[in-house]
Amino acid sequence: MIPSIEWVDEENKVKMIDQTLLPHELKFLEFEDYREVANSITVMNIRGAPAIGAAASMAMALATLEYKDLSKDEFLEKMNEAANHMRKARPTASNLFWAVNRMMKIIENSNGSPSEISEEIVEEAKLVAQEDVNVNKSIGKHGAEILADGDTVLTHCNAGSLATVQYGTALAPVRAAIEQRKKISVVADETRPRLQGARLTAYECQYDKIPVKVCADNSSGLLMKLGKIDKVIVGTDRVSSDAVFNKIGTYLVALAAKDNNIPFYVACPRSTLSLKDTIDDVEIEQRDSGEVSKILGKVQVTPEGVECLNYAFDITPFRLVTGIITEDGVFTPEEMLKKYKE
Ligand code: MRU
Repeated sequence: MIPSIEWVDEENKVKMIDQTLLPHELKFLEFEDYREVANSITVMNIRGAPAIGAAASMAMALATLEYKDLSKDEFLEKMNEAANHMRKARPTASNLFWAVNRMMKIIENSNGSPSEISEEIVEEAKLVAQEDVNVNKSIGKHGAEILADGDTVLTHCNAGSLATVQYGTALAPVRAAIEQRKKISVVADETRPRLQGARLTAYECQYDKIPVKVCADNSSGLLMKLGKIDKVIVGTDRVSSDAVFNKIGTYLVALAAKDNNIPFYVACPRSTLSLKDTIDDVEIEQRDSGEVSKILGKVQVTPEGVECLNYAFDITPFRLVTGIITEDGVFTPEEMLKKYKE
C-alpha cells in the first residue's frame, strides 16, 4: 500500500490520501496550513491513531513555517496556540498528544532562532513518519510469530497501512506472516458507522492481494462459534493502565473471542501507550448522530428526528486481552505494564 501521508519537501506541503473517498476513489489532499490538517483529522480524511500522530507532527511543522519570521517570544506563543489547536482535533488517540508534545518539547528546549527551529521540526516530522513505518515492521515481525500457517485473522475497523503511515499495526503481523509464505486470510468486520473495515481494510487487503472477506459487525460471534476464526488482532487508539480503547465494537468482539477460546491480540506502537491514565481519565469521542442515522451521510435509516448514540470508541478490559504486540515483542497485559510503566 502506498503511504497514507507524506511530507512534500520541494513545496513544504502535507499530502495525504482522502480516506473518506475510499474504496471508490484514490484521491490526495494537500495542505499548507496546520489548521487544515487539524480539520482533516476531525473530519477523518486521515484517521487511525499512528496516522493521526504523523499528521499532527507535520501540522506542527507547517505552523513553524508560518511563524518562523516572528521574534522568538511571538514564535513560542504562536506555536503554543497551534499545539492547543491540534490537541482539539480528536480526543481519544494518544498518538495525537504524543506527537504534539514531542514537537513542543524540541521547540521549547531549543536555543535556535525560529527559522532554525522550523528546519529542525520539519526534519523531526519526517522522522516521525519514517519511525512509524519501521516500528510497524517490528510489530509485524513479532506478531507473525503468533500466526500459524492457514490462520484466519478477524480484525475490527482499519488498523492497517491506511491507519498508519504505511504497513499497519493489526495488519502488520498478517503482512509479515504472508512475507514468510504462511497462508493467512483476513475477515474484516464492516465497522459501523464509518465502515472502516468494509471500506478501508478490504481496500488495502485487496490492493496488496491479502485474502479478505468482509462480515457484518454482528456476525463475528457466530463466525467464531463456527470455527472460522483462529485469532483476533485489532489496533488501538490508547492503552491505559487497565484497558484498551479501540473502535466501537471491539469490546463485543473481545467478549465473543473469550467465550470461544480464541486469542485476542492488540497491536500498537509504544506511542499509543498512555499508562499514566486509567479508564476514567480517557475521553471517548462522541461523534455526530447523523453518522449513525444516515449510512455514509447519504441513506437515512432511522425515522427523521430520532437521535442516535455515536460513541466512536469502546473500552476492552485487560482480562479479555491475550497479548499486546508492540515493536519490542508480544506481552501479556501484566508483562506490558511491567515493561513500560515508568
Ligand atoms: O475512528 P478511527 O477510524 O480513527 O479509528 C481507528 C481505530 O479504531 C484503529 O483501530 C486505531 O486507531 C488503531 S490504528 C493502527
